[in-house]
Amino acid sequence: MDYFDALSDEYVRTIVESQKQIYRNVNPALTRRVSGSVLCLGSGPVLNFADTHAERVVCLDLSLNMLQRLPRRERVSAVCADAQHLPFEDASFDFVVVPFLIHHMAMDTPADTDRAVGLMLRDARRVLRRHGRLLVVDLFLPDALEILLRSLYTPAALLLNRTGRPMMHFYSVSNFRELLRGVELGLEFDQRVGMNEKIMPTLLLPWFKVPASWHPARFHIIEAAKIVT
Ligand SMILES: C[S@@+](CC[C@H](N)C(=O)[O-])C[C@H]1O[C@@H](n2cnc3c(N)ncnc32)[C@H](O)[C@@H]1O
Repeated sequence: MDYFDALSDEYVRTIVESQKQIYRNVNPALTRRVSGSVLCLGSGPVLNFADTHAERVVCLDLSLNMLQRLPRRERVSAVCADAQHLPFEDASFDFVVVPFLIHHMAMDTPADTDRAVGLMLRDARRVLRRHGRLLVVDLFLPDALEILLRSLYTPAALLLNRTGRPMMHFYSVSNFRELLRGVELGLEFDQRVGMNEKIMPTLLLPWFKVPASWHPARFHIIEAAKIVT
């Protein structure tokens, strides 16, 4: 069983509960920004599209259990699929939203991770209309820390796997901008989002929390558009 299939019962109760402030900041920033037809990748059961201007929202997730916990709403439908192979026609959405998915696309090596994220971004670009927008929300690291994380990738993956958790990879904004450029998406806007006062620095010690200002990683909402030549 997939990690998120097994976690789905706990997801809203524990992880989302412990990161309440982040969702409170991110939810309106995302849902009020979108309009027309919206595709949400790695949607899970949480993002609240209740106060959106969107006419249609498709929530896509690889985990059926996560999708089954998605509250039923008018105009919101659910699709179980892989974000790297989107089952939609070209140019069918005005917005593609990617909330807290990127860091969970970690593969066996950093190069494979770049490839997987690149595939997802390429397909997101394909389903976007000409003037469509991609909105990514995630935790981003300073450049030097991402380089360090890449050099410690294999032992970090082993340690996480030993404790029953999948590997995660956090990008720096500048490296992520390069991945966007690689699939002809240009970064248009980068907004920092406030965090909880205290955050967990590592999933390995869920009870250990430090003031968010001590933590080098920051939540960002990144907006990108098609580079059209
Ligand atoms: C950290 S959760 C984020 C859920 C939700 N967006 C939120 O903000 O709470 C990551 C989600 O991405 C989904 N996921 C992971 N890899 C995926 C993939 N390749 N395609 C689609 N969904 C994926 C997981 O099943 C999980 O629901």
